[in-house]
Amino acid sequence: MYIFRLNLRKVSIGILLFGQLFLLFLYFYSQQSPIFQTTDSRISFLKSEDYENELQTTYHSLNSNIILKSIKTRQSYIDFNSSLCFTNGSDLNSMRLSTGGKWKCECLPGWHGTDCGQPEVLWRAILSSRKPVKIRGPRTFERRLIYVFKVDRFSEYVADIRINELGPIIDLFILYEDDNADFLLHKLGNKFCKEYQHKILYMQGDGTNLWKKVKPFLKNLRNDDIILSSGLNEIPNKDALIFLKFYDHWPQPIKFRYRWSVFGFFWVHPSKTITGGGACTISFLKESFNNKLSLLTDNKTLSSPLYRGLILGDLNHYGGWYCEFCNDPLRIVDFLSTKSKNVINWDRVNHQKIDSSFVEDLIENGVYMDGKSELWKAHKYHDNYFAPKFVLEHDWKYDFLLVNFYSKLDYYEG
Ligand SMILES: *[C@@H]1O[C@H](CO)[C@@H](O)[C@H](O)[C@H]1NC(C)=O
Ligand SMILES: *[C@@H]1O[C@H](CO)[C@@H](O)[C@H](O)[C@H]1NC(C)=O
Ligand SMILES: *[C@@H]1O[C@H](CO)[C@@H](O)[C@H](O)[C@H]1NC(C)=O
Repeated sequence: MYIFRLNLRKVSIGILLFGQLFLLFLYFYSQQSPIFQTTDSRISFLKSEDYENELQTTYHSLNSNIILKSIKTRQSYIDFNSSLCFTNGSDLNSMRLSTGGKWKCECLPGWHGTDCGQPEVLWRAILSSRKPVKIRGPRTFERRLIYVFKVDRFSEYVADIRINELGPIIDLFILYEDDNADFLLHKLGNKFCKEYQHKILYMQGDGTNLWKKVKPFLKNLRNDDIILSSGLNEIPNKDALIFLKFYDHWPQPIKFRYRWSVFGFFWVHPSKTITGGGACTISFLKESFNNKLSLLTDNKTLSSPLYRGLILGDLNHYGGWYCEFCNDPLRIVDFLSTKSKNVINWDRVNHQKIDSSFVEDLIENGVYMDGKSELWKAHKYHDNYFAPKFVLEHDWKYDFLLVNFYSKLDYYEG
């Protein structure tokens, strides 16, 4: 019976793989065919233009100045007869229909404030913060948002998700990997996140003094621009970050209470959330942290009453996602083998061999890596925070993080 189940699993994965290969083949065929069919001069002109675009969209390294764009916030608001409303937070249809001279912004579900510019997590964070918070805004110009994080070969998927999810609103990604690593370098050379490579600065090192090295190259950086830094598994909430760009007088530093997903977005850790760092303005980083970026994500900062700041997210509304072991079983095993023994309490795993079939069983049955804690099942269709939007909108790319392929029941439901 067990063998039968295993085979069924393998067969269904095989069929899926085959299907994906077939689609890929179709895709490439459809991309290539026009070139085979014609040698029209117009086509070659288009091709050389493509080539130029490609040259423009390569990533930066620390050898030239980087200029950050200045963007007016006005384009993100609509003027509703003297009321300024945040376009993406306002129910424009219902406002258009409203009669009786009520010129007020009407907010979409999940948005608050007189201009509908406050996303749910932020609105709740302000409500529950102990000190009164007087938010001002919108500003005339967006603050620029710089996002620093490390990438290694085990965090490729989460890195891909955050670059694509947050790419439209991040002004500069600073990605780094260990000194002797070249995983990310190869990936970037292979068009990793090609659409956003013009916003990526690639660096090597362990992250110490990173900010001090980069800062002189950012020629038009402003004191009220924002720096964001977070760990390998973390995907901060996009709407909350947009708010930080548009408004003033929010408490610092910003911390995030992430939803703790395990193996994919379909399982949630029994603790539900985990708190991580961190964002603050450039001047706060200098004055309070002496430009040490690591302090933004440091445990001491996160728990210190001195740096209470503002925590985005609670038990039902999340400041983002912490996606732990969001990888395929083989890479999870590979990852664990690079960790020191005490990361996992091996005694509690009852000395079982940690191989990919052990991990597959954990994923199938919803058991955490300790071999004991039962994970909670998340439901895609009635959960506003199931997964980041980009992942939901590209379910063909991230299907393995959305559907539990190791559980027959989920697979057929999904
Ligand atoms: C805008 O609002 C004012 C007062 O609220 C009102 O007198 C005026 O007629 C409105 N403008 C339009 C174009 O309806
Ligand atoms: C508003 O929504 C549109 C469509 O989803 C998106 O392209 C745009 O970036 C959003 N703007 C802001 C400021 O969030
Ligand atoms: C940080 O805090 C968490 C939870 O409080 C703890 O599990 C973890 O070991 C701490 N990390 C360090 C490096 O102290």
